Amino acid sequence: MKIIMLGAPGAGKGTQAKMIAEKYGLPHISTGDIFRANIKNGTELGKEAKEYMDKGLLVPDELTVRLLLDRVAKEDCKNGYVLDGFPRTIPQAEVLDAELEKLGEKVDYAVNVDVPDENIVNRMSGRRACLSCGATYHIVSIPPKKEGVCDVCGSELVLRDDDRPETVQNRLKVYHEQTQPLIDFYEKKGVLRSVDGTLPMEEVFGAITKILG
Ligand code: AP5
Ligand code: MG
Ligand code: ZN
Repeated sequence: MKIIMLGAPGAGKGTQAKMIAEKYGLPHISTGDIFRANIKNGTELGKEAKEYMDKGLLVPDELTVRLLLDRVAKEDCKNGYVLDGFPRTIPQAEVLDAELEKLGEKVDYAVNVDVPDENIVNRMSGRRACLSCGATYHIVSIPPKKEGVCDVCGSELVLRDDDRPETVQNRLKVYHEQTQPLIDFYEKKGVLRSVDGTLPMEEVFGAITKILG
């Protein structure tokens, strides 16, 4: 099963993608997490991506597409995957479709986690992220067991560099301009499913598992 997560920054794509990946035994592939891991490790890719990410801009398609195609070609992806944060532009979606078509495959579901902009800024300022394993928490709604420490791997939790309010505004603008058109794109293909992302995490997950079966 090949699943794409759509939704604004902070809508809960990562939170839900992790749960889906676990339940259905699929790899969770977040381009944002891959970029952040590269930044943390000081790679060339990380240096290049950081220039864009810190401004709330998208990393150029060329760089992102190459990275993603390499990742989905790996052995663990042969039964499917959950893509979180990719595609994010129409050209990215077209490349993915073309690659899948070569293999006689297609995207099965594009799950749109719908959250209005008003709710987003609050979610971002309370988010704490683990840069080692990609786990995400919220200081009020989804706190870790021990403050500042990842439940999963024990690493220190941080506020992401791009979660400052001014950057969040910019990310929302970029989302509406470049990523939201994907909702129509997948609707036309008949694979779009929307869920109310303002509900508590477990309820959102319940709605998604009803769709995925
Ligand atoms: P990326 O890492 O993908 O960031 P994003 O899309 O902005 O999304 P977020 O990760 O911020 O939010 P999320 O929807 O995963 O929400 P989360 O589950 O954390 O990308 C970062 C940057 O990398 C981009 O800006 C771009 O520069 C670059 N990039 C990445 N992919 C790219 C691509 N394909 N092309 C070009 N550039 C790319 O939840 C948010 C918070 O809310 C958390 O604190 C969480 O605990 C909490 N929460 C979640 N669900 C609920 C709930 N139901 N109720 C209450 N709180 C909740
Ligand atoms: Mg995320
Ligand atoms: Zn962790």
